[in-house]
Amino acid sequence: MDSVITTSSPAGRAPDTIVITDVDLSLGTGAARVHILKDISLRVGSGEALGLIGPSGSGKSTLLMVMAGLERPDSGEVVVSGTSFNALSEDELARFRGRQVGIVFQSFHLIPTMTALENVSVPLELAGVPDAAARAARELASVGLGERLHHYPTQLSGGEQQRVALARALAPDPAILVADEPTGNLDEATGKQIVDLLFAKHAERGMTLVLVTHDSSLAQRCDRVVRLRSGRIDSTAPPQRLRAEA
Ligand SMILES: Nc1ncnc2c1ncn2[C@@H]1O[C@H](COP(=O)(O)OP(=O)(O)O)[C@@H](O)[C@H]1O
Ligand SMILES: [Mg+2]
Repeated sequence: MDSVITTSSPAGRAPDTIVITDVDLSLGTGAARVHILKDISLRVGSGEALGLIGPSGSGKSTLLMVMAGLERPDSGEVVVSGTSFNALSEDELARFRGRQVGIVFQSFHLIPTMTALENVSVPLELAGVPDAAARAARELASVGLGERLHHYPTQLSGGEQQRVALARALAPDPAILVADEPTGNLDEATGKQIVDLLFAKHAERGMTLVLVTHDSSLAQRCDRVVRLRSGRIDSTAPPQRLRAEA
């Protein structure tokens, strides 16, 4: 069959969930304008765990925001689960994100005036998911927070807040989960628990995972690692190769 859909791949392989083609992006105005992403093309397979590494300022977070549909490139195309973001209005893109894209940030980004349960259930309600509260409670229990449903973020430890953020990201059962240095604000032991949980959820749910990290031991747990340098893809390697280089 002739492939018209940009996500089709050779026979026998599952289609790629994320297909980024010739993406360029500049941000800022006037003299502060910075060319951040340069000619980026990248495919991430269905269920793959991709590590994204590179020096600070190389464009990792920006590329993640482009994949998540939170930032639109100046040119090029982003396709997630067969849907081209170029074809979507802002409202349509927001709706798509609500169902298909889970995002975890370094600094948790919980809403301080909402309980753990509300932080997870309100986005589900907005996405039109039925039984949002029950589903949110189940998701929080599955990350070990069944006893913390009615706590506010300030009443939770950093690790617990990141668990809430993970539950929020996973609750709609998204096709892709993107995480931007999710252990960056946590001590080592707590960070390891979060990473173990993240990979356990990846194994259990089979969503496509993109993980930005500067921690090479963390990157090595991914199926494949892409390195950015000054806004370009510098190298792509299976994690074993990365180990050999280190
Ligand atoms: N809104 C913005 N306006 C101008 N420059 C930006 C903006 N956001 C990020 N940058 C610049 O883009 C580059 C890449 O940033 P970022 O994607 O955050 O890198 P990383 O996550 O790899 O540290 C940096 O030089 C940063 O200063
Ligand atoms: Mg960053």
